[in-house]
Amino acid sequence: MTPAYQAIPKYLAKNSYKNPTDSTKTPFNLAYNTELPVFKWREQNPENYKVGQAFMAAQRIGQRSVWDGLVPLDDFKMKQEDIDNDRVMLCDVGGGSGHQCVEFRKYQPDMKGRIVTEDLFSVQNLAKNREELNKLNIEMVPHNFMQEQPVQGAKVYYLRNVIHNWNDEPSKVILGSVAKAVAPDSVVIVDDVVMPQVGASWKQSSMDLAMMTMLAAVERTENHFAQLLQESGLKLRNVVTYDKDYGDSFIIAVPADSS
Ligand SMILES: C[S@@+](CC[C@H](N)C(=O)[O-])C[C@H]1O[C@@H](n2cnc3c(N)ncnc32)[C@H](O)[C@@H]1O
Repeated sequence: MTPAYQAIPKYLAKNSYKNPTDSTKTPFNLAYNTELPVFKWREQNPENYKVGQAFMAAQRIGQRSVWDGLVPLDDFKMKQEDIDNDRVMLCDVGGGSGHQCVEFRKYQPDMKGRIVTEDLFSVQNLAKNREELNKLNIEMVPHNFMQEQPVQGAKVYYLRNVIHNWNDEPSKVILGSVAKAVAPDSVVIVDDVVMPQVGASWKQSSMDLAMMTMLAAVERTENHFAQLLQESGLKLRNVVTYDKDYGDSFIIAVPADSS
């Protein structure tokens, strides 16, 4: 993806030094001479998709897993009645090959309940870990998150590094379809960087630049998330930051009408 970064000066000069807002007109599009947004382009370039997925799965190797006590997991706990009724405990929306679900099962073997990982059919098709998913009782459900959510009433909907790939309008479509699927006691966890109002670290700025360059997207402040969630039919409840350098955080939302 280096050519996309090299195209930034040319892109900005051609576009009055404005942030890209259209995911088909970015430095990536200029560099790769395509009008396809990155994820669509990658579907036609599966070697690149494979590398991207491997990066997503491997990028935090060596770091403590978020599921290893870095964040409170009370929101995932279900009543015995829910477990008996096969309610989904964790629905990982845009979960790639399900690597976060695997980690969850490994670090939280006593948390009972179904786990579902969702992604595009073409992406799940590339997954090499089906045997491991089966062994850990993790279900793979193909799903385009711009469409109606097939898993209704899960206890937790989890979106790691998904919302930061999109600007506000498509993000509202993704979160809006989750908002339509929630039960009164569900929570929606967006796992993304939370940017400070001023004084971002180089790591945060580099992520923000990557989102702009590839996707016409953005890393958001807490206020920006609160507004986005509200416009998607949800309500920001609290933020738990688990990586101070990046500002990686659980941005936890509940149904808009919950008290
Ligand atoms: C940056 S990756 C994050 C993957 C995973 N959640 C993680 O944290 O490792 C974004 C994911 O969104 C998926 N994605 C992109 N467009 C999608 C769509 N329309 N429907 C479902 N998933 C999509 C990609 O295939 C990719 O797996």
